[in-house]
Amino acid sequence: MNRPIRSYVLRQGRTTPAQTRALEQLYPKYGIAFSDQKIISARPLVLEIGSGMGETTVEIAKAHPEVDFIAAEVHGPGVGSLLNRIEAGRLANVRVVRHDAVDVLEHMVADGSLAAIHLFFPDPWPKKRHHKRRLVQPAFAALAARKLAPGGILHAATDWPDYADRMQEVFSREASLEKADSGLAEKPVTKFEARGKRLGHPIRELFYKRRP
Ligand SMILES: C[S@@+](CC[C@H](N)C(=O)[O-])C[C@H]1O[C@@H](n2cnc3c(N)ncnc32)[C@H](O)[C@@H]1O
Repeated sequence: MNRPIRSYVLRQGRTTPAQTRALEQLYPKYGIAFSDQKIISARPLVLEIGSGMGETTVEIAKAHPEVDFIAAEVHGPGVGSLLNRIEAGRLANVRVVRHDAVDVLEHMVADGSLAAIHLFFPDPWPKKRHHKRRLVQPAFAALAARKLAPGGILHAATDWPDYADRMQEVFSREASLEKADSGLAEKPVTKFEARGKRLGHPIRELFYKRRP
């Protein structure tokens, strides 16, 4: 069987009772099942790829009630945690898809529809033999650019210098993207960013926008 290379390996780890409850009771409320149906919003729409535990997702959504956010994440405990945060914050502008974000982009997002894509601290896959698992590849850049609205922002961050260099190279080579100065939202310090900082890693943030 010809399986595509995924950017993650599913290690679910421990799911707390609160996360399990959230997956059972809150996913029907805030989750969207993966399908071929396109997500439609009359308001600006942002897709976050790999929302982790969801602290940053919720912080940004609170600061931008005029924007709708879709968080795509494969890690069950992370999805449960985000669902609990959405419920606690009574947020009406966040929905979650527990599925591979590349499939979500491809199948659930209409071309030219996103105000922004947030890609904060994607798995770095630091070993050279694992670089093929990195999410940011030319095909991803082309897909992301196609889904952005003209002027829509691709906002990425990483604490791995060689991955930041590679992202810059890949995004710069994508003809329909150009450099931008800032994002739709300010990025708060994420969980993995804090971890990177503790390890002394430099943090790089990249902004590209879809050409008109
Ligand atoms: C290093 S963590 C960063 C989490 C969060 N953005 C932060 O900065 O704290 C990367 C996350 O991306 C998720 N992930 C990796 N590949 C993914 C994919 N193709 N679709 C959805 N989630 C993915 C992983 O499960 C993990 O939670």
